[in-house]
Amino acid sequence: SGNGPPKGHRYDLVVLANRLPVDQATDPDGQACWRRSPGGLVTALHPIMQSRAGAWIGWHGRPGAAPKPFNHDGIRLHPIELSAEEVDGYYEGQSNATIWPLYHDAVEQPVFDRRWRQAYHSVNHRFAAAAAQLAAPGALVWVHDYHLQLVPGMLRKLRPDLRIGFFLHIPFPPVELFCQLPMRDDIMRGLLGSDLVGFQHPQGTTNFARLAAHLLDAELADGVIKHESGVTAAATFPISIDVAGQQQLATEPPIRARADEIRRELGSPRTLILGVDRLDYTKGIEHRLTAYGELLADGRLDPAQTVMVQVAVPSRQRLDQYQSLRERVETTVSRINGRHAGIGKLCVHYLHQSYDREELAALYLAADVMAVTPLRDGMNLVAKEYVATRTDGTGALVLSEFAGAAAELRQAWMVNPHNLEALKDTLAEAAAADVAEQRRRMEPMRSHLRRYDVNRWAAAFLGQLGDPASPEPS
Ligand code: ADP
Ligand code: G6P
Repeated sequence: SGNGPPKGHRYDLVVLANRLPVDQATDPDGQACWRRSPGGLVTALHPIMQSRAGAWIGWHGRPGAAPKPFNHDGIRLHPIELSAEEVDGYYEGQSNATIWPLYHDAVEQPVFDRRWRQAYHSVNHRFAAAAAQLAAPGALVWVHDYHLQLVPGMLRKLRPDLRIGFFLHIPFPPVELFCQLPMRDDIMRGLLGSDLVGFQHPQGTTNFARLAAHLLDAELADGVIKHESGVTAAATFPISIDVAGQQQLATEPPIRARADEIRRELGSPRTLILGVDRLDYTKGIEHRLTAYGELLADGRLDPAQTVMVQVAVPSRQRLDQYQSLRERVETTVSRINGRHAGIGKLCVHYLHQSYDREELAALYLAADVMAVTPLRDGMNLVAKEYVATRTDGTGALVLSEFAGAAAELRQAWMVNPHNLEALKDTLAEAAAADVAEQRRRMEPMRSHLRRYDVNRWAAAFLGQLGDPASPEPS
């Protein structure tokens, strides 16, 4: 923390996301503390906001009164209050039980409830009002993700002078899925309040433009959508990570030593397979575990020589869908260990815990095979972190076709996670690859990432939105 600008200060750049980059938490001694929030959005935006004098509006992670605005890690944070009912209706309900599953190909059944829509509307309005207060005349306001899709339209009404951008971190669904949403017109009108809407993948951009034409009779021409209340550009901006920072971590001696130690602690296996995900049903964790279990049972992987580590970061734990996923995953892990483990020798190390960046980097360094097998994922930054960490060009990335990252990390071992046989073959192939093959695939992915890091992503978006400080990159 520290002193910030005086009350009433207005900002040339305001970012809104459901979450602040830190969450209010309680440490083991019962003291209140701040902890890094989970997920790819925060990973990407945090370094961007550290390098700019902007404000970040978001929720501090708990129901009830919001703390006063404060500085954290060089970023000005403005907490937004949510009541317990709003956490229920807006965050857990409309955002995470309706929109999240629907936008991820309905891999889990979306739930519809009209009370949630009311809460979603009023919380979006609170965010818009906060931005209207904090933004300087003509400022850039950048709204993030599926929780806040009504904000651009609301803010446009409050402050027609602003440049408003919206970026969706998750997939944007095809017309026939989106049209299930009772709020479909409100959401489209909300998004079209933006000057620029950005997506992770060209599919999302196309889906969005088609929907504008289909639902609101908008006209499409040259990447812009002409609609009843103005003109909105829609374009693709694949998000990335702080590649230099991640590479830096990978070269630090204590982290390299920790990677060696992890391998020793696991019994120095020949092959270490790693998964790192929020415990979410979009991530394909069960599919991955099932494939691994069958490879052990078929004798294609040797339990004496192979270990899998699955980090499953706790997420959205009050929601039924997440609780039953957890039960299914934990049953599968026990079944595999029950059948194939020995005394002091687990086949799957399942860690339903949170780790810091350093420990994650050590795990990436220790892993021979990184298994990223989501059923649907906007991007998947874990895949990019693994590639950036492997500074010597070794390691094998198994990557789902249904992750946004597959459009860029094309040399990965690509797989359709719904095809169990293919998933088994791909994991086995990746585990058997020699160093020459690993490098042949890893090098082009590494050089792609060095070019397309998160700074370039932000500069591309803000440049197109009209930021004088972000010339559009070549
Ligand atoms: P998602 O955004 O769906 O969670 P991504 O793979 O895109 O999936 O992003 C996950 C991000 O969360 C990665 O940057 C990863 O390093 C980070 N992460 C993993 N574990 C934790 C943790 N315990 N706390 C905070 N961030 C974490
Ligand atoms: C994904 C979403 C983010 C979200 C994160 C963590 O990355 O795109 O908006 O913050 O998951 O989920 P949570 O519900 O804990 O914020």
